Amino acid sequence: MADVRLKFQDGEQVLLVDQRGKRHLIFLRKSEAFHSDRGWISHDAIIGQPKGTLVRSSLGLRYLALRPTLAEYVLEMPRGAQVIYPKDLAMILFWADIYPGCRVLEAGMGSGALTLALLRAVGAEGRVVSYESREEFARRALANIHTRMGEVTNLVVRFTAIEDGVRDEEPVDRVLLDLPEPWKLVEAVAAVLRPGGIFLSYLPTIIQSHQLVETLRRCPAFSLIETFETLFRPWNIDGQSVRPFHRMVAHTGFITVARRVVPVDREPAPAVVEPAEPE
Ligand SMILES: C[S@@+](CC[C@H](N)C(=O)[O-])C[C@H]1O[C@@H](n2cnc3c(N)ncnc32)[C@H](O)[C@@H]1O
Repeated sequence: MADVRLKFQDGEQVLLVDQRGKRHLIFLRKSEAFHSDRGWISHDAIIGQPKGTLVRSSLGLRYLALRPTLAEYVLEMPRGAQVIYPKDLAMILFWADIYPGCRVLEAGMGSGALTLALLRAVGAEGRVVSYESREEFARRALANIHTRMGEVTNLVVRFTAIEDGVRDEEPVDRVLLDLPEPWKLVEAVAAVLRPGGIFLSYLPTIIQSHQLVETLRRCPAFSLIETFETLFRPWNIDGQSVRPFHRMVAHTGFITVARRVVPVDREPAPAVVEPAEPE
């Protein structure tokens, strides 16, 4: 029997990329058509074709038909709140060391970009509990998740601010926050995060990151605190033109990571040793 993953199916999502690189994310529906200023394409011309196929519009223009990667999907899916970009999602998954079976607490869910990445990384054996204070954003995020992944069994959504529920949560392996004032949650995060676990926060400004780091430093339950940003600079490689692109996404956000440790009594300050009196 043919492997259905290799060929486009009725009802499946497809990313159509035209010759200018313009992208369109659509659902394939039998007997329907995709229309643009560059002509139309019958969905039936794509259904049953291998992924990566070139199709032509009614005006003879070429489109590449692909199953969108998660990064492509995140950039094209409908948004409530601003999403975390794929360059940062990639770093977050590794720096927070998300693994299959991991138990993650997340807030805010926003449009669900990070939630999608987390759900895939923790797998069916893991669990993501996600807080979102604005119900319309949480509903948007859930719709985005269902469109991409269908029904999921490893996600629990809490339609409220994290402050309202974090104290009742079971211990987790990781806490990831994408909200404006994470320093207010440091004590609560320390209480819910297992020793050895990882806390990660994503913030748009260095002022906020500074305030978070200062608060983490004062909390003996956290150590190995680091803050960084990811600069992603694509290059144009075309014949003699080998150089960075003129434009890039210059700034998105700062990532702060800290390890939850077993607090020890603070080292006593070294006693002041008076210099010996000369003989
Ligand atoms: C930048 S968006 C998150 C984007 C999301 N991480 C994504 O990748 O799509 C920030 C979200 O945090 C939510 N939020 C702000 N404060 C919150 C809180 N205390 N508890 C839960 N959600 C909160 C906001 O409503 C907003 O949707």
